[in-house]
Amino acid sequence: MTKIALVTGASKGIGFETVRQLAQQGIHVLLGARDLKKSETAAATLQAEGLPVEGIALDVTSTADIFNAAQTIEAKYGRLDILVNNAGVLLDDGGFGVNTTTTVPLVKVRETFDSNFFGVIALTQALLPLLQKSEAGRIVNLSSILASLTLHATPGSPIYDSKAFAYNVSKTALNGYTVHLAHALKDTPIKVNSAHPGWVKTEMGGEYAPMEIADGAKTSVQLATLPADGPSGGYFHLGETLPW
Ligand SMILES: NC(=O)c1ccc[n+]([C@@H]2O[C@H](COP(=O)([O-])OP(=O)(O)OC[C@H]3O[C@@H](n4cnc5c(N)ncnc54)[C@H](OP(=O)(O)O)[C@@H]3O)[C@@H](O)[C@H]2O)c1
Repeated sequence: MTKIALVTGASKGIGFETVRQLAQQGIHVLLGARDLKKSETAAATLQAEGLPVEGIALDVTSTADIFNAAQTIEAKYGRLDILVNNAGVLLDDGGFGVNTTTTVPLVKVRETFDSNFFGVIALTQALLPLLQKSEAGRIVNLSSILASLTLHATPGSPIYDSKAFAYNVSKTALNGYTVHLAHALKDTPIKVNSAHPGWVKTEMGGEYAPMEIADGAKTSVQLATLPADGPSGGYFHLGETLPW
């Protein structure tokens, strides 16, 4: 039976490439983007490569979009096998190089959490009944190494000075969701994991990032296609476990 996947925030960057690589494995992928036109244009690009991809309008902060996505997937496929919570924003002024903790406006912290944390919970809860109908449901939460409190609290760690407060703690909270959800689902076939894609050359990662987008999608694809004896409740980059 053909697997059905949904990738959020997939009109560009790591999400778009994740859709491509999942579809190259014969998985039917719904490509989510907050703008319907962008989702259809991106899907058309991959369809032209012969890949089984369709666009879907999905802003993860929109209750209506989440409801409609769940209804559409239920009506068309009756289940969901893979959910990749890829959509994310970085709103801290100065990006990763500046410690924004003392100045970041609370409204930006809330806005960041709306997409990076609350949106993930809302969408995942709405789709859980469909994931529970899969024989092997997989949930991948796009975290970041910048979520790691262990590394942030360790002078000399590679991320010690990368303190974009709102972004980092939204991903730390997301890691908390991964651990709690994995526990809640531990007696089911569903696996839930956090992914650090690497520092990747996307709009968010910037031009100095060392990793190409094709490699940046690999961790998400690995975790989305884990075998039955694979891990759940973990935090990974290319098969390596990261410290929480
Ligand atoms: N690049 C890196 O080095 C890196 C490192 C660690 C983790 N990550 C994580 O990897 C994921 C993908 O990042 P990327 O580098 O590919 O970033 P990107 O190129 O900036 O793409 C982010 C995507 O998320 C979408 N998005 C943002 N808010 C959304 C919302 N509320 N609803 C739906 N879609 C939304 C954007 O849509 P629009 O086009 O509409 O804006 C865009 O398609 C993110 O979660 C990011 O935090 C990236």
